Amino acid sequence: AETHLVEKENLGGTCLNVGCIPTKALLHTAELYHAVRNGERIGLKGESVTIDWQALMNRKQSVVRRLVGGVGGLLKANGVTVHKGTGELAGPGSVKVHGAEEEVLTADVVVVSTGSVPVKLNFPGADLPGVIDSTGALSLPKPPESMVIVGGGVIGIEFAALCAALGSKVTVVELLPEILPGIDSEIVLALKKNLSKEGIVFLNGAKLESVNQAAGALAAKVQVGAETREIVAEIVLVAVGRRAFTDGAGLEASGVKLERGKVAVDENYQTNVPGVYAIGDCNGITMLAHAASHQGIAAVEHALGHGGTHGQPIVPACIYIRPEVAAVGITEDKAKEQGIAYRKGVFPLAGNGKAMIDEGESGFIKILAGAQYGEIIGVHMVGPRVTEMIGEATLA
Ligand code: NAI
Repeated sequence: AETHLVEKENLGGTCLNVGCIPTKALLHTAELYHAVRNGERIGLKGESVTIDWQALMNRKQSVVRRLVGGVGGLLKANGVTVHKGTGELAGPGSVKVHGAEEEVLTADVVVVSTGSVPVKLNFPGADLPGVIDSTGALSLPKPPESMVIVGGGVIGIEFAALCAALGSKVTVVELLPEILPGIDSEIVLALKKNLSKEGIVFLNGAKLESVNQAAGALAAKVQVGAETREIVAEIVLVAVGRRAFTDGAGLEASGVKLERGKVAVDENYQTNVPGVYAIGDCNGITMLAHAASHQGIAAVEHALGHGGTHGQPIVPACIYIRPEVAAVGITEDKAKEQGIAYRKGVFPLAGNGKAMIDEGESGFIKILAGAQYGEIIGVHMVGPRVTEMIGEATLA
């Protein structure tokens, strides 16, 4: 199909520009730094190792730049015309591009993939300098000495691990009784044990009340049960989720149905308006880049009449900290909740030589299978390099 792409900022979206990729670039160096500094057990003495923050920032940017360039190259090689500007659906098959010049594109099929933005919390002090979101956290002028992270989800925990490895004093404030909702609770327990050892403090069932300027720092007032605590930190990172972003995309005016802010789609990622599809974070189904890629393939195949419906894909999820977490399928908590009869097998990594060498003895792999037929319904892993093993579990 003759294809046009409208982009208002940089090619590659959140994951590549201000999400997974820059975060992982920082995590890579932070983990090496931490491992070398604490390397006595494995015969390394690296107390004098230091972080060159500017070099690290430059490297992160260079990784992003190369990948963005690669995406541009791929689009060009595949004959996609890129239009710089904001796209606005102006009825089925018509997209206005608000850029340096105004233009109108017409097409048989329009795919909306406008992504998501961080959820903003309204609290006194939310606009103070030093109160940041994940995008801000990726370009700090130096590693923070101390940090309060509001939200113990994937972003919160990845940044907590990153900053702790760099030597920051980190406190995580989570509203729910436990961090990482949606992750198997045995995995969360194991993870927390490790992260607590790194000095990260978890306040669960805790609510941020306000942030005030304190001598050269910020003072966060947090309600924990009946008690109000004040935590002084250099930075307050708010990571309480992301919401579908469709502002200015002309969807509702063109009759496209939204449900609680997300673009409603059927099993082929088609909206209620025939020929208009929505993929990725903007439909809110699975806010992960690899899921978005797959949805794109499914939507295009449907639009062009190739292949059948993809159905509900099985999507693995990973948390890139040390120890790594990787999961696919149902959690044990959900299986119990839904009354699913299951069998459970657990392999402690203390019994695996390679994991031991990688200092990952505290990790484990848990496989859940249907009680009657033994079909695999969930695999949950915590330990070294498990994010590289989850593909095999997904296939199984
Ligand atoms: P999230 O939904 O994973 O977690 C948000 C956390 O904030 C939850 O634990 C929630 O209970 C808590 N929360 C909500 N309101 C709060 C409040 N007022 N005070 C304290 N805690 C509050 O969202 P997150 O971490 O912002 O991530 C956004 C998206 O990005 C997710 O869809 C995530 O899957 C994706 N992501 C994926 C990564 C990966 O695959 N490795 C890495 C980072 C993000």
